[in-house]
Amino acid sequence: MKTSGGSDAAKRAAGESAADAADDGAVVGLGTGSTAAHAIRELGRRVDAGLDVRGIPTSYQSRELALEVGVPLTTLDAVEEVDLAIDGADQFSGPHLVKGGGAAHAREKIVDAAADRLLVVADPSKAADRLDHPVPVEVLPDARTTAADAVRALGGTPELRTAERKDGPVVTDNGNLVLDCEFDEIPDPASLAADLAAIPGAVEHGLFVGLADEVHVGSESGVDVRTF
Ligand code: A5P
Repeated sequence: MKTSGGSDAAKRAAGESAADAADDGAVVGLGTGSTAAHAIRELGRRVDAGLDVRGIPTSYQSRELALEVGVPLTTLDAVEEVDLAIDGADQFSGPHLVKGGGAAHAREKIVDAAADRLLVVADPSKAADRLDHPVPVEVLPDARTTAADAVRALGGTPELRTAERKDGPVVTDNGNLVLDCEFDEIPDPASLAADLAAIPGAVEHGLFVGLADEVHVGSESGVDVRTF
């Protein structure tokens, strides 16, 4: 599993805090990444203790983990409502997020946006006054060069994400490629999000504008829950 910045104890505190928000009967979006994994494990423990929940995974990773820890699974098209989603972030500024460090942001955005409430789980290293993390853009393989040109025209610097234990590029769960796009500071996330969404061949980008309802920021001494 990809790991990131903060301590595992901080991630665990955040994940467990958000998992505690799942009520009996809830449908829960299961985010991807090392922090969301703690929430999935906690849901598994709560299922063992009698909680009735169904999870909707956002990646192979979250699906496999949910199966391992015994969280029953469902799909978006089989439910009328998603009560909450619990997901990590690479960076957050208020309710705005950059996601996609694990290349799962397309499915994450579908599920997170469908949920009545999105609970983001993070450690303090993810907080920013203003977003400046590179924005992942998932692109159809045929659009790799033209989408990169379009990102440059927007003032960004795109870099094709390469795999670590495979030669060549990262291929997403959806069979696409990822351009990590450096924009330095992002003063207007909504405007950049609209520009990225308009690139031909762009499947989804990692800017989640105003989507978070709560951010659970874990630390070794507790959890700070910020609501929006
Ligand atoms: C997956 O593609 C991402 O959006 C993750 O949710 C994000 O990278 C956070 O992951 P960590 O909790 O491992 O930092």
